[in-house]
Order: sequence, then C-alpha cells, then structure tokens
Amino acid sequence: MRTQASKTEKPPVITIDGPSGSGKGAITHKLAQKLGFHILDSGALYRLIGLAARKSQTSFDDEPGLARISREMVVKFVPSDDPEEPLHILLEGEEVTKSLRTDQAGQDASRVAPIAAVRAGIGELQRGFLTAPGLIADGRDMGTVVFPDADVKIYLTASAEIRANRRYKQLKDKDISVTLPGLFQSIKDRDERDMNREVAPLRPAIDAVVVDSSLMSLDEVFEAVIAIVREKV
Ligand code: DC
Repeated sequence: MRTQASKTEKPPVITIDGPSGSGKGAITHKLAQKLGFHILDSGALYRLIGLAARKSQTSFDDEPGLARISREMVVKFVPSDDPEEPLHILLEGEEVTKSLRTDQAGQDASRVAPIAAVRAGIGELQRGFLTAPGLIADGRDMGTVVFPDADVKIYLTASAEIRANRRYKQLKDKDISVTLPGLFQSIKDRDERDMNREVAPLRPAIDAVVVDSSLMSLDEVFEAVIAIVREKV
C-alpha cells in the first residue's frame, strides 16, 4: 500500500492522453511553460522506433528486431527557443525532428506501438523523464499504464473531422505535403489501430477528466486544463 508520505515526495505528473490531432502537443507545451515542468512526448518515442527501423531496414514484422531497437536506440531531446519546434530530437546523434513529424512517421509509429515488447522496451526510458519539478506526459497510455498514479489525468479529444483539419493546417504551415482527404483517412485508420489494439489501447483512465476540444479554441482548452490542474495539484 502506498503511504501519503511517498506520494508527496514524488514530483507531480500530469498526463495528457488522447487521439492524434486532439491538440495534446500544443497544450502540453503551454502547460510546461506555465509550470516550468519537463515534457515527455511519448508519441515521438514510437515515431523514433519506426524511423530507426526504416533506417536499419528492420521489417515491421520483425517483432524481436523492433523490440531491440526500442531498448537500444540512443535518443536525445534538446529544448530550443524555437516556438515551432520547442524540442529538437536526435536519433543516434542525428537531428530527426522534421522527419518525425511526417504523416508516414505517424503511421509507422502506430504500426510498432501495438507490439508489447516494444512498449515494454521504452517503459523505463519513459518513467525516467519524471524528475523535479514535475512532468507533463503526452501520449495514449500515460494515465492508464505508464503513470497510473499521476496527480492529474486529462483525456483530450475532438471529432475526427476537426482533428484532420487542424493537422492539415499544421503540416501545411510546415511545408509538409499532404491532402485533407488522405489525412482524414489516416487519422481514422490510426484511431482504429490505437483504440482497438490489445496492449495499452487508447482510452480515458477511469480517473481522467475528459475535455472535448471540438468547439474550443486553443486558449479555451488551455484555460480549461489549467483550471483542472489548479483544482487537483
Ligand atoms: O502522438 P503521436 O501522433 O506522435 O503518436 C504516434 C503514434 O504512436 C500513435 O498513433 C500511437 C502511438 N503511441 C502510443 O501507442 N502510445 C503512446 N503513449 C504515444 C503514442
């Protein structure tokens, strides 16, 4: 049984889970700036495993090979002053931030993510991000699996149409070539895979607060999230 003392000694964790394009990344960065907390972008870790697999020509059917990559890849997250890319990501010393943001990288991530040994392979790496003064963890299973004792759990969602439109605008702004119907289909495929897989499926933790951002601006979502955080921490 966990004592009150052990809970108060640990730095606080805020988990933000939800489907692709629900605005988790933007909210996570705003919240981290406001609170001065660290960030865990767990989706980037699955994207990195997909990218490392392509670079080493490891097949997406080679589960032991993918699991090995998840345990052994050398990654570094470097904070930057660039508001467009607040974290620069290095894989084996090589800057891969932009390659990770493509729709292909998201699709590849969603193919490696259902593999239990891959998820286990980055378990410790993810929990290692929890250091003082606190952590905002962004993903699909942050509140359900990786940080089940998190102080605040938020599940951020929005309709698939709205998410596809937002993602389209984001990728266009970054000069990444994509079509809206293609992106809508890709978001629906990704939802299907993320929500229906056997291991750590995407769903709100029972103690999560669900925020539907479909009809809200980023600032409104941020205000709603800050209010939830203030109430709980
Ligand atoms: O958040 P994102 O789009 O970068 O995530 C890419 C994929 O990684 C997503 O489709 C599912 C997977 N993922 C996961 O399974 N668990 C997480 N905690 C984060 C991402």
